[in-house]
Amino acid sequence: MNLPVHGVTRRTGVLACLAIVCLLLLVHSSASSRPLIPLPQAVRFRSSSTLARYLAHPSERPALPLVSSISSFSLSPPPPSHPVNVSICAVPTHEEQYLPEWITWHRLVGVERFYLFDNSPSRRMRRLLKPWIDEGSVVLYELHYKEGTDIGAIYQQHVLRLCEKDVLPHTYWASHHDVDEFLLVDAPGWSSPLPTPVPPPSSSNSTALATRWTFPLHVRFNEILHRATCVPILRLPFHNYGVREVGWAESVVEKQTVRDKVDPNFHTYGKIFLHSAQQAKRASWMGPHSCKALPGTVVLDSHGKRIVNEEGIYPFNGLALPQESLRLFHYVQRSLEDCRSKYRVLANTPNDWRTKDGLTGCARNYVPLDSELATSEGRDELAALVATDSEEERKALLDRPASWWELFERDTAARDSWQGRMTRAVLAEWRARGKREGVWWWEEGVADEELDGMEGVRVVRDIERAIMGA
Ligand SMILES: *[C@@H]1O[C@H](CO)[C@@H](O)[C@H](O)[C@H]1NC(C)=O
Ligand SMILES: *[C@@H]1O[C@H](CO)[C@@H](O)[C@H](O)[C@H]1NC(C)=O
Repeated sequence: MNLPVHGVTRRTGVLACLAIVCLLLLVHSSASSRPLIPLPQAVRFRSSSTLARYLAHPSERPALPLVSSISSFSLSPPPPSHPVNVSICAVPTHEEQYLPEWITWHRLVGVERFYLFDNSPSRRMRRLLKPWIDEGSVVLYELHYKEGTDIGAIYQQHVLRLCEKDVLPHTYWASHHDVDEFLLVDAPGWSSPLPTPVPPPSSSNSTALATRWTFPLHVRFNEILHRATCVPILRLPFHNYGVREVGWAESVVEKQTVRDKVDPNFHTYGKIFLHSAQQAKRASWMGPHSCKALPGTVVLDSHGKRIVNEEGIYPFNGLALPQESLRLFHYVQRSLEDCRSKYRVLANTPNDWRTKDGLTGCARNYVPLDSELATSEGRDELAALVATDSEEERKALLDRPASWWELFERDTAARDSWQGRMTRAVLAEWRARGKREGVWWWEEGVADEELDGMEGVRVVRDIERAIMGA
């Protein structure tokens, strides 16, 4: 808010007049741009032109109400006792910075519910996720491990088992993927992968806004893949090409646009969608990258082609998968700084995959830009990021794989997609509502007691028992 504060230097009479003007301005601008009490339901885009700036084509307009309801946390899925089409199970731990972008993206793709299994529970996480938990789109599990547990070695299996037991009965389709993986849905021949409003029944009030949407992802599952029990998803590894840091106001999907070139026979350690048909044990994950379907059920690729014939097991080392329809963009290292700070946080959990490679691994995954390598000043500046005197780490940081231009290619599909642009629109809107950088508007002024008493959080103290269902 730009208040004319210079008015205080004027004479008293003028001052009094200005004060009134200020007050009017204040009242007016509060009313027009920001509710005094930030009620989630009351949040709408400040103006449709803010949102419209992110449109690429007028044909995207009909989906704007969906974006608006996602941004106002008013796209509630049915209650947990009712099945939804698509859920994701994921681990939010240490991912606070990236969750809003990741959740918003997947809401736009058609993921109705997220089951987030936090193995290091905190009020901070509750505060961050509160509006989605209240909306019903996030179910937060707080897994309390006993002091001294080697969490890194076991949490992934726990998450898979809990997801099978607790989530599969309440969803038709579920995937386990990570917060650095973004699902893209498109298919050959589709002119547009946009959700479309379901026309309200003619008997109802036709002026009412559509509250239900048809998502291309749901249609693909229901029409092409309904016979499948497991659908493996191709995962495309992105490279950190010169991203030292992703700031609070920046987007991972926008900054990262360089990935491995993959040939048509690329065997992927992909992720898997399970089609539960609401049954807990119809299929299961053998690990994050493989699945086992009951006899008589099938494993299809995302085009609907049967890819596993015997045993019904999709192997750990993957199979060649189509490069359209369903893909995961995997941002292996979101920024150099992120990799290093995760390492520092997780250094005492030696079995966590993120720490196995250490700081040298962070340096190795960073691909320097031409501009960083061109001059000795540039090289020195980059090398100075290595705080230790590790020669190996310094070398890894400055190193670029031989013939890297043959290995990598530019892929801006996620950045330029409707989901990518709308996610940035929503996050920009939320940031503009906040008062301080790094704090989302809904996090301000929430009392600890309110967080402690939150509904929709499942506190698990005996994890083995929760999995066995005793
Ligand atoms: C339709 O909705 C509008 C606005 O909510 C309301 O004014 C109107 O009376 C409704 N009409 C019918 C037939 O329900
Ligand atoms: C699932 O998606 C299909 C296709 O869009 C839709 O017809 C159906 O109503 C959806 N089911 C639920 C539970 O949302």
